Amino acid sequence: MIVILDFGSQYSELIARRIRETQVYSEVLSYRTSVEQIQRINPKGIILSGGPNSVYDPRAPQCDPQIFHMGIPILGVCYGMQLMVQQLGGNVEKAERGEYGKAALFIDDPTDLFTNVDNGNTMWMSHADSCLALPEGFEILAHTNNTRCAAIANHERKLYGVQFHPEVVHSIGGIALIRNFVYHICDAEPTWTTEAFVEESIREIRAKVGDQRVLLALSGGVDSSTLAFLLHKAIGDQLTCMFIDQGFMRKGEPESLIEMFEGQFHIHVKYIEARDRFIKAIEGVTDPEVKRKRIGHEFIRVFEEESKRLGPFDYLAQGTLYPDVIESADTNMDPKTGERVAVKIKSHHNVGGLPKDLQFKLIEPLRKLFKDEVRKLGRSIGLPEEIVQRHPFPGPGLAIRILGEVTADKLNILRDADFVVRDEIRQRGIYHDFWQAFAVLLPIRSVGVMGDQRTYAHPVVLRFITSEDGMTADWSRVSYDLLEAISNRIVNEVKGVNRVVYDITSKPPGTIEWE
Ligand code: XMP
Repeated sequence: MIVILDFGSQYSELIARRIRETQVYSEVLSYRTSVEQIQRINPKGIILSGGPNSVYDPRAPQCDPQIFHMGIPILGVCYGMQLMVQQLGGNVEKAERGEYGKAALFIDDPTDLFTNVDNGNTMWMSHADSCLALPEGFEILAHTNNTRCAAIANHERKLYGVQFHPEVVHSIGGIALIRNFVYHICDAEPTWTTEAFVEESIREIRAKVGDQRVLLALSGGVDSSTLAFLLHKAIGDQLTCMFIDQGFMRKGEPESLIEMFEGQFHIHVKYIEARDRFIKAIEGVTDPEVKRKRIGHEFIRVFEEESKRLGPFDYLAQGTLYPDVIESADTNMDPKTGERVAVKIKSHHNVGGLPKDLQFKLIEPLRKLFKDEVRKLGRSIGLPEEIVQRHPFPGPGLAIRILGEVTADKLNILRDADFVVRDEIRQRGIYHDFWQAFAVLLPIRSVGVMGDQRTYAHPVVLRFITSEDGMTADWSRVSYDLLEAISNRIVNEVKGVNRVVYDITSKPPGTIEWE
């Protein structure tokens, strides 16, 4: 394992992902992690991340300086390099000129860290400070026109530093550098594979659960589907999969989910038909927040009733992923038992938590994985691409894509319009060009003409966006040809719609969903 000590960089997670891409397991830990803790983990190498501070600021985060004397190879990145230099007796000061963005890197020592990295490659820089004097035993490995110490090393002690960010895609050869560090300097073995993960998880799940019972709420997404498969493989019928059909899913989705689990994987799913309850719960509601809250509360109510009816259960399985773990740190820990407790259902994280008297113990077998690793795992166990690469779909489903009051008729209209969108982009093989591509139904009506008939019906908005993570997004510049095909089909095939418009708002200032 390679440990990343995080000093507050926005790239710490990305470093962990890059290392895992070399098939070596990697975890992000706080910069406060003690030498004793690190000794217990016994990593093959340590990476000190970047961070927003200046090392000479008295409040700047510092790691235990003993870390440099453990005999474990260390690579400092940006702030991490400056900290290493300062803590070992060198000097870091504000640079005459900061360096932001791309810079050509000239290699002075093409051995270990820079094997297979070309001289003059572009690397991504983002620093206001520079190392002016190196600690004893260090030498310069590379420079840029602006920065004398762009990469440094103390070969004997296996301490390395780079001023640039090898983990970002703009750094050409950055991945080769990371591989050099991981394989040649740390001597780590490429053992972090999907097969190894499945084997280890199954062992762990069995040891933890014993002969107790586990409940899993299936949503149809890749996380809960992968989780169901893993748990079923480990504990068979001790697992109960529950699927609550709120009536807000897309055309054919509940049916194909059940068919896939029962038919293909032979995993029984308790199907809870709750469509009427949900639509009643939001009858007459037009305010988006009230709508979300009512759906959330109804979900909890149904979940509570059904888990009592089908239970008792000892564990609740959650599809918590590694980024959630990093972000929530240990705030959800039960101080008495040290177990993580269920304070929220992930797919409905924004609509409230489970009631206090319904506290299960948690089992979270995916908590070590990044989203792309879950996809890889899902694929390896035979989940269809349709689920593995599915666009994100919000917990409250189509209900928040029908503006204003949700009725059964409107749900049918939107389901049909949404089907046309998905069908067209699938047929053209461009489904994966988008982060999300969907239709929104507006509560207003406008005048149109079909044949000789005047129509007075609803408009549908097409929302096609690209994004890296859903936090920011841009509207997609799709072809007129595609827009025309979708518009024609929707107006002709979907009763109740006579106009189609295209949303050209990015996020911010818009959000991706309309409610
Ligand atoms: P917004 O609309 O906030 O959406 O720009 C950002 C991303 O989050 C998804 N989304 C949700 N996901 N439960 C979810 O699991 C929800 O209630 C929810 N609301 C929005 C949205 O589809 C987009 O990908």
